[in-house]
Amino acid sequence: MPRHIVRLILLLVAAGVVALLSIRFFTVESFYRYGHYRGDSVAEIAADKPNFKGVAFCQSCHAERVAEWSKGAHNRPEAGKVVTCEGCHGAAASRRPHGVVAASMAGAEHPKDLKMEVPADTRQLCTLCHERTAGRPAEQPQIVVADHAGAQQCSVCHNPHSPKLASAAAATSAGNAGAGKAKAAACAGCHGAEGIGKDLPGPTLAGQNEAYFIEAMKAYANGARKDAMMSPAARGLSNQDLADLAAYYAAQKCQSSLAGSRQASAAAAKCVACHGADGVSANRAWPHLVGFSKAHLVDALQAYKSGARKDPMMAGVLKTMSDAEIDGAAAYYAAATCR
Ligand code: HEC
Ligand code: HEC
Ligand code: HEC
Ligand code: HEC
Ligand code: HEC
Ligand code: HEC
Repeated sequence: MPRHIVRLILLLVAAGVVALLSIRFFTVESFYRYGHYRGDSVAEIAADKPNFKGVAFCQSCHAERVAEWSKGAHNRPEAGKVVTCEGCHGAAASRRPHGVVAASMAGAEHPKDLKMEVPADTRQLCTLCHERTAGRPAEQPQIVVADHAGAQQCSVCHNPHSPKLASAAAATSAGNAGAGKAKAAACAGCHGAEGIGKDLPGPTLAGQNEAYFIEAMKAYANGARKDAMMSPAARGLSNQDLADLAAYYAAQKCQSSLAGSRQASAAAAKCVACHGADGVSANRAWPHLVGFSKAHLVDALQAYKSGARKDPMMAGVLKTMSDAEIDGAAAYYAAATCR
């Protein structure tokens, strides 16, 4: 055999020995126990700290939000549909970068040293799951963003923690307008005999949505809404009284002096989706804004803004409005008088 071939074979044998020795000395013992993996890493990963902590963890410090979320459309375990807190806000814990194995139990943790994300752009967040897309299963509620929201953020109208908008609470009213007329005598001094509050201390009630009317009366009676004149007037009324009064006022004539097709002013543009360009709201649980004085409108808007009056939709709208814009929106709807 020529010498150069012998040298080549010796070189290959030496390389093979070095390779075998390096596998023997440089790979971890559990490598190849279950195949081309490091067997012990399974137990290590299982023992590592989870990044996601679950909704129960948030409960102790953010009880109000958890309560709101639990009742909302994003928590429907019975349908297998749950959008968790961390699904929108990111994980509440993190591990140390991979490789620093011993320290992996000690990564950052909310609220100690990890700040949760607050999604600022809800158009981007919500459309991940709700934008109409070909092939998206029909069971998932979907919208065409441009038609549905225009250029607005979803959070203007939807509370992310309880996104379904309240719909007509009491679908059928058992009220009797005739009986309501007699009961309304006690209210006439402030709201007018036919519910037109012009120049009187109380706002117009004529034509008001019944479901909203009843909710407003209950809020005065239980203290959720406070007013020195109204709170005493609302106490001691039965459910039947409320239904009768609501039916009576809903039957009184107050048609908006504005046309529904008109173009709302810039300040009122945010309101139109819910209260109409003419002040007539589409949903029975939402108030008509017809016949109100500018002072009542400003008072109500400021009360939502300060939190004295609580409503997730109105609070969302007012969060970014200045006093001047509030004044502008109120001036717009004050022009919607009864005709
Ligand atoms: C031990 C109490 C505690 C727990 C548990 C807790 N948080 Fe917080 N959270 C806080 C405190 C305190 C703040 C305000 C300090 C801050 O901004 O980091 C806060 C702030 C936040 C913020 C606002 C951050 C910002 O930049 O304004 C979000 C969002 C949030 N938490 C979400 C969650 C979620 C989701 C969970 C459950 C996975 C959770 N938190 C669990 C105490 C807690
Ligand atoms: C569908 C997405 C979504 C889910 C689910 C969700 N959040 Fe939020 N959360 C938001 C958005 C968006 C905001 C910003 C609020 C706004 O723009 O009005 C927010 C705001 C907050 C804030 C206030 C931050 C601030 O600075 O105002 C806290 C605290 C919070 N969420 C906690 C929670 C907790 C706790 C849960 C679970 C029970 C939860 N969130 C579930 C989207 C979500
Ligand atoms: C991770 C996906 C996901 C994200 C992100 C998400 N949602 Fe949802 N949303 C769902 C699911 C799932 C349901 C439950 C659908 C059902 O009940 O069939 C739902 C329900 C709703 C509903 C009720 C629909 C109905 O008529 O029952 C509204 C409204 C809604 N989401 C708005 C929002 C808004 C606004 C945001 C952003 C702040 C958002 N969602 C973010 C998945 C998501
Ligand atoms: C101007 C107010 C407004 C804005 C902005 C808005 N929505 Fe809505 N959304 C509504 C109203 C009103 C409904 C109908 C609610 C009802 O019937 O109770 C609704 C219903 C929905 C539904 C349920 C649809 C269904 O078929 O059941 C989803 C999902 C939804 N919105 C997602 C979004 C998302 C995502 C955004 C942001 C891109 C958004 N919305 C922005 C007012 C708004
Ligand atoms: C002493 C005067 C006074 C009497 C009597 C009175 N109200 Fe009022 N009412 C007011 C004032 C003032 C407000 C506005 C308070 C506010 O801004 O919260 C109001 C508000 C209301 C509202 C809420 C209107 C809205 O648009 O949110 C309803 C509903 C109502 N009154 C019904 C009645 C009924 C029904 C009676 C008789 C049983 C009655 N009121 C008796 C002064 C009165
Ligand atoms: C997403 C729907 C929505 C939008 C947008 C909206 N509102 Fe409302 N508004 C409501 C609901 C629901 C209520 C009833 C809340 C309650 O029960 O306190 C309400 C209540 C009111 C009231 C109280 C009426 C009274 O008699 O006390 C006024 C005033 C009002 N809105 C004006 C406005 C103005 C002005 C805008 C625009 C800047 C606006 N709203 C935008 C849904 C909306």
